Amino acid sequence: MPQRLASVHTAIAKRLEGVVDSPRREAQLLLMAYLNKDQLYVITHQETLIDDTDPTLIAWIEKRSRNVPLEYLTQQVSFYSHTFYIDEGALIPRPETEHLIDEVLSRVDHTQTMTVVEVGTGSGIISIILALHLPHARFIAVDISPPALAVARRNIHAFGLSDRIELREGDLLSCVSESIDLLVSNPPYIANDFPLDSNLAYEPQNALFGGDVGDEIIRRLLDEALRRAIALFVCEMGYDQRTKVQEYLKPFAVQSLEFYQDLASFDRGFTLRIAR
Ligand SMILES: C[S@@+](CC[C@H](N)C(=O)[O-])C[C@H]1O[C@@H](n2cnc3c(N)ncnc32)[C@H](O)[C@@H]1O
Repeated sequence: MPQRLASVHTAIAKRLEGVVDSPRREAQLLLMAYLNKDQLYVITHQETLIDDTDPTLIAWIEKRSRNVPLEYLTQQVSFYSHTFYIDEGALIPRPETEHLIDEVLSRVDHTQTMTVVEVGTGSGIISIILALHLPHARFIAVDISPPALAVARRNIHAFGLSDRIELREGDLLSCVSESIDLLVSNPPYIANDFPLDSNLAYEPQNALFGGDVGDEIIRRLLDEALRRAIALFVCEMGYDQRTKVQEYLKPFAVQSLEFYQDLASFDRGFTLRIAR
């Protein structure tokens, strides 16, 4: 029997108690996504009747009560004011990665012809947003994970960028022999034994963990950037990895190394310039 939206909201919130931090808010977000309506609609249509036996709604509530991220249920994620397809094959883009985009865009000439390589493209969001802003750049987007590349391919196609962003499967830069003007990456950088929240269990683990210490992939990328004398390398990192990056680069004569912060003022990444 159809139920009032208010009752369904309360019932979902109850299922989410002890699973998520804000059960009522999370229940509201689930209903907004399910009904394809905004928050105002949910607040002002409390008496509207909805079918709480709908299999999709039941499946979503069941999965959400196991803390599966909402984005994997809706298969949609917002990033940099755009909507992207997402599924369990790729990491859900994080808001802090928008700083990486801003960092790149503030440092390159938008009219320049250049070859940009992204390592660990996941859903493809970084290359796609950069391609929208850098119309003369050509992109090679690499990932080691075929399921992630499938998500990226779908997004790149949806944005009409298949002719400008080439996807390659490989380990870091092993599949890129071209000269690189700009290297960009949001690599896995969490230590293997770091205890993660339960919702992160549903995301690809090779997108999160960077090795026993955490910065192993970042160090391998630094090696590559130095070896190939890549003029500009912009990389996201963990809030506590600044000293490790500085120490690692100490023996090398780099042109500049600068760190950028996220909205909470935590170190979130770096920009490395290497003289050619
Ligand atoms: C933190 S996720 C970033 C995904 C996406 N760029 C984003 O910012 O949302 C890291 C990505 O690196 C990929 N990856 C992990 N190890 C890799 C390696 N050795 N070579 C290439 N890609 C790798 C993972 O599959 C994952 O898609």
